[in-house]
Amino acid sequence: MATKPIIKIAAICGSLRKASYNAGLLRSAIELSGSIDGIAIEYIDISPLPMLNTDLEVNGKYPPVVEAFRQKILQSDCFLFASPEYNYSITAPLKNAIDWASRPPNVWATKPAAIVSAGGGFGGGRSQYHLRQIGVFLDLHFINKPEFVINAFQPPAKFDSDGNLIDAEAKERLKAVVQSLKDFTLRLQQGN
Ligand SMILES: Cc1cc2nc3c(=O)[nH]c(=O)nc-3n(C[C@H](O)[C@H](O)[C@H](O)COP(=O)(O)O)c2cc1C
Repeated sequence: MATKPIIKIAAICGSLRKASYNAGLLRSAIELSGSIDGIAIEYIDISPLPMLNTDLEVNGKYPPVVEAFRQKILQSDCFLFASPEYNYSITAPLKNAIDWASRPPNVWATKPAAIVSAGGGFGGGRSQYHLRQIGVFLDLHFINKPEFVINAFQPPAKFDSDGNLIDAEAKERLKAVVQSLKDFTLRLQQGN
């Protein structure tokens, strides 16, 4: 019997902080991915990327670290973004990574994506809407539902001091996002 192809999900975090709650969401998603058939989530570190400067593009080539990142994006079937909110928008490191992978050829194009976020009052929700807007031009296809935001500062604690998600209800909601991303990716790949 032919083995079913695995959906490759690239997990990308907009925070570079060691104990980042948003990175914690992605670690949790990776942990729970074992209970969803047919997916593999890989954490893609965006911290080594230089600040975008098109002078770094020489003879149509990108710096090796950028090229390696672009290859990871190209080889993924879909994306799970953890997008913290900085001043009502996405973070500079995430925008930088998105911009590098949008350079020709745009390696985001036509692929599905989902967003989760942890933050203050709105749980990072405003950054999610800005990311969706950016995705219009990139030809990303975001799942509409379920939405996932979590207030990281409201007691009881949802994260431990290392940024690990410790809230059982949130883990269930996170799992529903990953399941929805998988289902939507399969639908797009199968053209129905
Ligand atoms: C420059 C900066 C701007 C921020 N602006 C917002 C904001 O507009 N809304 C919000 O809810 N939190 C804001 N925060 C708080 C972060 O979203 C919060 O610290 C979050 O935990 C960061 O994500 P991380 O834990 O993954 O690093 C801001 C933090 C920084 C450093």
